[in-house]
Parts: sequence; structure tokens; C-alpha cells
Amino acid sequence: MIFPYADFVSVLEKRFPQRVGLCEPELKGNELKYLTECIETGWVSTAGKFVTAFEDKIKEISGAKYAIATSTGTSALHTLYLSAGIEPGDEVLTQSFTFIATVNAISYCNATPHFVDIADNSTLTVDPIKLKKYLTEICLLKNNQCINKKTGNPIKALVVMHTFGKSTQLKECKNICDEFGILLIEDAAEALGTKYLGQHVGTYGAGGVFSFNGNKITTCGAGGVVVTNDQKLAETARHISTTAKKPHPYLYNHDQVGYNYRMANINAAVGLAQLEQLPEILNKKRKLFQSYKNLFSDINNISLLGDQEWSTANHWLNAVELQDCNHELLLETLKIINDKSISVRPAWTPIHQLDPYSHCPQSNLDVTSHKANCIINLPSSSFI
Ligand SMILES: Cc1ncc(COP(=O)(O)O)c(C=O)c1O
Repeated sequence: MIFPYADFVSVLEKRFPQRVGLCEPELKGNELKYLTECIETGWVSTAGKFVTAFEDKIKEISGAKYAIATSTGTSALHTLYLSAGIEPGDEVLTQSFTFIATVNAISYCNATPHFVDIADNSTLTVDPIKLKKYLTEICLLKNNQCINKKTGNPIKALVVMHTFGKSTQLKECKNICDEFGILLIEDAAEALGTKYLGQHVGTYGAGGVFSFNGNKITTCGAGGVVVTNDQKLAETARHISTTAKKPHPYLYNHDQVGYNYRMANINAAVGLAQLEQLPEILNKKRKLFQSYKNLFSDINNISLLGDQEWSTANHWLNAVELQDCNHELLLETLKIINDKSISVRPAWTPIHQLDPYSHCPQSNLDVTSHKANCIINLPSSSFI
């Protein structure tokens, strides 16, 4: 069989004659200056002015009333789920088309992930139409609580994930959640800078998280943050992420099982310097997206995943969909391109296909399974 994506490969080869990474950080602002200040003053650990300044900057960018910085995006998710009241025995609806952290953090709460399908559009996020149909079939409303008729367990929350920085249809998802008595939570780990109908993602439901892992649009080295407009949720999140220690200058009293999830000052120092550059980085990311659009305009068997009318994406990670692809062809394409030192990656293996989660309740996941076999992420560093 003739390899069908030769034009795509050749365009990439011309664009990237030398080695190119997938998504690497650009550390050209005040990172070194702020880090030096941490070291010279000795404020390197989980207290210090940069943690507060970082949280303030996140509030300013996102418009959220509260921000709680954590050690990673994963610990932010765990903190948020617990603070939102996810309990052992609950079921939590979410995408199978996501990075595993979205789902692992549900397991950390001893709750059960319950997978729903993604939309057949460029967002690769929860499909609200299918979601409503599915909930209507499987749910029973008891005292305004959504119960899974089959398992008898409460369906407590829906976690939407804004895939590669593209916003899901938040209004539709929120309306469905309200109708079924389900909390809306946003895993916006990949979506700092993305707006949904003009409002920053992560602030639409009970709470959201952003990640500052090294490959994200801005990085702390490692880091995360919980954002919310709910004061009680924010207080709980801060408390449990700081070992549930009761405030006191020197006594150690802890009133519940807590977690050592606070962000360190040195991570916040890097993160703050990065956030200062966010407008410039967003600008470069948008330009890169446009340049890919032009580059691929004459290739008719791939499509670049673009904006939807409801969202202004941050274009964190550019992706193309290969038409008429299958798993073998995807693997072949990935190998051909990576062998040329151009870093491209597949989307994640759908979580319901992984051993630890194959037993979990799920709706029909046809779109998830199909898309996983035909999506390729492209080099997306802001400086290329
Ligand atoms: C969708 C999603 N959720 C959660 C995470 C976890 O973030 P972290 O790596 O900072 O723990 C990531 C990325 O790494 C992610 O892409």
C-alpha cells in the first residue's frame, strides 16, 4: 500500500530541517533573577513571597476569586476533588480521552471513574449531547442526587478536560450538570490562557486546575494550582494541601488527614516569571497555529484541529487528524516523522483501554477509540 501521508511528512521535513522538540519551555524573563532572590534570602521551601505573588497573578489572569498553588497539577486535582466533596463510593464522570492524572486523582479519592465519550469536533472534549442522552438512560434522581441505576452509587461530578488547550462546551455541560444534580469540575491543566465565551476556563464550574509541568504553556518546573470562586472550597483546598495544620506559630495540630501538596517558593519564582510572559507566549502560540494552517492548506487528507466559535484556544499543543487512519498507519507515521528528529506524539491511549481502568463503567466510547488512532501532536514550542 502507498503511504498516504507523504505530503504531510514532506511539508514537516521542509519546515523543520533540524531536530525539533514537542513543547519545550522558554525561560527568558525574570526566572533567574527571582530564583537568585530565593537562594540569597533562604526562602526556598513551601512559604515565601513568590507563592503568594504566583497565586495573585493566577487570580488576575483567570478572574477566579481564589487560587491555591500546589506541587503538581495532579496534586491540584486530588485537592480539588476532595474539597468539592468527592467521597469513597462516588462515581465521577470524565473523559477516557485524557492524560491519566485526571482519572488517577479520582482513584486517590477511592471514587470510581465513569467514562463518557468525546465530541466528534476539534475540541476532543466531553460531548454534551451524548452526555445528556446517556445520563437520561442510566440515572435516577433521588433527593436531587444523581444515582447510577445499575450500581446504586451516586454520580457526584463531571470532570471535563480542555484537551490540548481547547475549551469544551462549558455552558451546555453546566446546564446538564445542574439538571442532574452533578458538580462540574474543570481539568484545565493544559488550558491556561484559553477562554470560553470570553470567560477564562477553569472558572466555570465548582473549581478548576492548571498544571505548570515543564511541557505546559508556562512552567514552574513542576507545579499546579486550584482555582475557584467558592470561598469554602478554597479554604478546604488550602487546609488539606498544607497537611490540615491548624494555624499556630509553633504548635503542630492537624484536624484531619491532610497532604503535603504546597508549592515551593523556588517553583513559584519560576512560575511567576513565566506568567509575566504569558501574553507574549499566547501571541507566539497563535502565530505558530496560523503558520501550521498555511503550511497544511494544500494537503487534503489531514486537518489541523482549530478553534470552535465558543472558544479562544491557547494553542498549547497543535494537533492534526489524519483522515482514514488506523492504529498501524498511525504508528508508521509517528515512526517516519520521529526518525527525522521531528518530535511528534500520538494522543494518549484511551484510559478505558488501560489495565487499571478497563473495568470502570463507561458509555459508548466510539469517538474516543477512533480519535486516539488518528491524532498526532506537532512541535509546538512557542519559540519555533
Ligand atoms: C489533562 C492533564 N491533567 C493533569 C495533568 C497533570 O499535571 P502535572 O503533570 O502537573 O501533575 C496534566 C499534565 O501533565 C494534563 O495534561
